[in-house]
Amino acid sequence: MKPVIDILDERIGAAMAKAAGGVRGAAMVRPATDPKFGDYQVNGVMPLAKKVQTDPRTVAELIIRTLKINDICEKPEIAGPGFINLRLKANFVADRLLEINADSQKRLGVEKTTQPKTIVVDFSGPNIAKQMHVGHLRSTIIGDCICRLLEFQGHDVKRQNHIGDWGTQFGMLCALFDKILLEAPRGEAINRDETLADIEEFYRQAQSLYKNNEEFARTAHVAVVGLHTGDGPWVTYWKGIVKTTTKHFREVYDRLCVTLKDEHIRGESFYKDMLSDIVAELKKKKLAEESDGAVCVFPEGFKNKEGQPLPFIIQKSDGAYLYATTDLAALRYRVQELKADRIIYVTDARQSLHFQMLFKVAALAGWAKPDMLIHIAFGSVLGENGKPLRTREGENVKLKDLLTEAVERAKAVVEEKNPDLPPERKDEIARAVGIGAVKYADFSNNRTSDYVFSFNKMLAMDGNTAPYMQYAYARIKSIERKGKDRGIDVEEEQSKVEKANLTEPAELDLAKHLVRYVEAIGAAAVDYRPNYLTAYLYELAQKFSAFYTNCPVLDAGADKRPTRLLLCDLTAKTIKHGLSELLGIEVVEQM
Ligand code: ARG
Repeated sequence: MKPVIDILDERIGAAMAKAAGGVRGAAMVRPATDPKFGDYQVNGVMPLAKKVQTDPRTVAELIIRTLKINDICEKPEIAGPGFINLRLKANFVADRLLEINADSQKRLGVEKTTQPKTIVVDFSGPNIAKQMHVGHLRSTIIGDCICRLLEFQGHDVKRQNHIGDWGTQFGMLCALFDKILLEAPRGEAINRDETLADIEEFYRQAQSLYKNNEEFARTAHVAVVGLHTGDGPWVTYWKGIVKTTTKHFREVYDRLCVTLKDEHIRGESFYKDMLSDIVAELKKKKLAEESDGAVCVFPEGFKNKEGQPLPFIIQKSDGAYLYATTDLAALRYRVQELKADRIIYVTDARQSLHFQMLFKVAALAGWAKPDMLIHIAFGSVLGENGKPLRTREGENVKLKDLLTEAVERAKAVVEEKNPDLPPERKDEIARAVGIGAVKYADFSNNRTSDYVFSFNKMLAMDGNTAPYMQYAYARIKSIERKGKDRGIDVEEEQSKVEKANLTEPAELDLAKHLVRYVEAIGAAAVDYRPNYLTAYLYELAQKFSAFYTNCPVLDAGADKRPTRLLLCDLTAKTIKHGLSELLGIEVVEQM
């Protein structure tokens, strides 16, 4: 089923070409800015009028005269300096609704793209030997939502979890493990299955030993070399640390309902043997040069505060490679081996300069075209004081603790509102609402801005929140249950609808919005903005509310009830699809 907006675009485009004697211009059909003016507006008339040097309103009249569109729209209207306003016919909307219904178990009438691409999405990227903190929340869930959207559109998505599992800090950690093993009294069992909290504590110890104890620092250097060459016990220690930490990632991902699996991990260490080749190739291409002993690329257009060329450092004077080198290797690998048509990086806006330089250097080296590479940046999560969210002690907030608190708070609300539910139902609702609230609040904010993290706001039952959306879904489900209790065969009745009866304005308004689900998905995917989807869903829930207030469902007459049951069902299915399939937020049948 072709999206309405695309059909309109084609028809108007054809009429425009005729009206302008073959001169081409884009129709630019957009959703109307104000429903007063209709459902869609044509923005392309004025640019076309300029091209053919004619008054835009005259061009608009010509277009309307040749336009064949009365199967879809009411009579088009010209407005302002030369917009054309379009309003969908109730009959057309009614037909679409049935088409969506015919596909309601699967894709709700949303077609797959005719041009599927291979798209690498690099997201989450936490660091080994550290717990995930709130800073990883956004990358993880926004990245996951982007993957879900693109996959639903029919693209081949390759998730890449570029974890920080390599670097000199692992030399220190391994040296400490070695020390502990050596110093352990003979015969004492060593717990090799350390928890992540232990490893974080080791990390602090190792850092201080490294600073204050020369012998330890020497061992740490030996360990770094050993990690590279594979000699000694070092790789074994490192593997243990990686295993413990990835187990923790796994738990967080599962709680967040994100689609990242262990097989998507391709950490920095994966590229270690490619780094010398990256440097050599950039030198050979005369892009990299030595500067103060380090190897750097100075891509054009990047300057520091003093106006000096800014280096993209790919090898330090001691021979060590950097984050930048690994990223170049990963990029080349993704294009050459994973056959990426597009690579999307989801990180904090503070890494923007790094990615701008990375993309520039990759383009100079001929590894990728600039338009294949996209940095999806996002703002910070702030505390109620407007500063980056921290614990009272001033530490990074651990993601695990944050999620636990969200679920506990949601549980308290459930206990209060629904004390009689069985305990396992209460837990299920608390989990869906608590985790959903954290995710939804993040998604519903414009991703490029910072936002203030507030449990009270995100758990509120009104406003654009997860609980509001989940409640809207559960409410529709309860209408259906009530209907069944009263002996109404809900499924049977709505399956018999041959022509949806959309006579009430609130019915038509809701139906039109349901038809536009595909547009919301398209808009969210093309700009990588989950908030377009949450805004659509929120509007859907509001339109449903208006409909339900104005149009009785179970008590409606035989001429109206089947269509109204159908509207209920499609609204519920759309909310459920948006929340659970595209945003990864659970719904519950009862709240
Ligand atoms: N590990 C990095 C961090 O915690 C994020 C990695 C992002 N991906 C990349 N290819 N650089 O900041």
